[in-house]
Amino acid sequence: MTHDHHYAANLANWDERAAIHAADESGFYKLAQIRKGQDILDPIAGGIGDVRGLRVAHLQCHIGTDTVCLAMRGASITGLDFSPTALCAARSLAADLQLDAQFVEGNVYDARALLEGEFDRVFVTWGAINWLPDIARWAKTVASILKPGGKLFLAEAHPTTLCLDWVDGRIAPGFDLRTPQAQPIAEDLATTYNETQTEIRSTRTYEWMHALSDILNGLVAAGLRIDRFDEHEELPWAPFPNLVKGPDIYYRFPPGHPRLPLSFSLIATKG
Ligand SMILES: C[S@@+](CC[C@H](N)C(=O)[O-])C[C@H]1O[C@@H](n2cnc3c(N)ncnc32)[C@H](O)[C@@H]1O
Repeated sequence: MTHDHHYAANLANWDERAAIHAADESGFYKLAQIRKGQDILDPIAGGIGDVRGLRVAHLQCHIGTDTVCLAMRGASITGLDFSPTALCAARSLAADLQLDAQFVEGNVYDARALLEGEFDRVFVTWGAINWLPDIARWAKTVASILKPGGKLFLAEAHPTTLCLDWVDGRIAPGFDLRTPQAQPIAEDLATTYNETQTEIRSTRTYEWMHALSDILNGLVAAGLRIDRFDEHEELPWAPFPNLVKGPDIYYRFPPGHPRLPLSFSLIATKG
């Protein structure tokens, strides 16, 4: 089936959000610090390890904040995103910092055709795969741009957390573990998550939930070996209002609350 109208709605929404995020009125994206040359990559995303001298593809790179941090760490990096507004902000950030980062516009599923050559690392983090209808096809796309021996680093919200919602002042089951490709979760949100109240006109978005087993089995079927898998008690944003922001950038459950898994990260190697 075609998802063109889903992608078109999501793109219109992301283009507006990218402009709001690039203005960074709330400081959520730490653009002022990054422009001073500060590497703000969060510790979980830093699980990608040493990238010096490596060719890295950053899929769904958004406004390029993590892309330029990886470039500061010595990666030869290419970001890919379908939002021209996000890439315009990303290119200007890299140019201001005189960093060698390339940015390519397009759909993740077209990455093999759009990106030149093979990569040592593919980096995908925080709110990326929920915009993609077919997780097995995504895993094959990742494998197609990796060198043999190259590694995927993925950090995402935990599917257990994504299944939950905030109802009547408490956490309750909210979503099915898997979203049928033809019936995405449709949502209309008037603002974005960067703690500003700027209104968005293209409010409609479409998302898909992916079970952890479908993510892992998709990678294995695409020829990747899972080297490491971690579950974390923190997340860089707050899906529920009872989460507490720590002295670092992460939100966690308050003391006394069951420590549910909020995020996961993994490293997988192409055979
Ligand atoms: C929440 S952001 C991901 C955060 C990002 N990893 C970062 O480093 O800041 C989601 C990004 O995915 C992009 N996106 C969503 N669907 C896409 C698709 N099908 N192909 C390419 N980019 C997509 C959006 O434009 C947006 O920039």
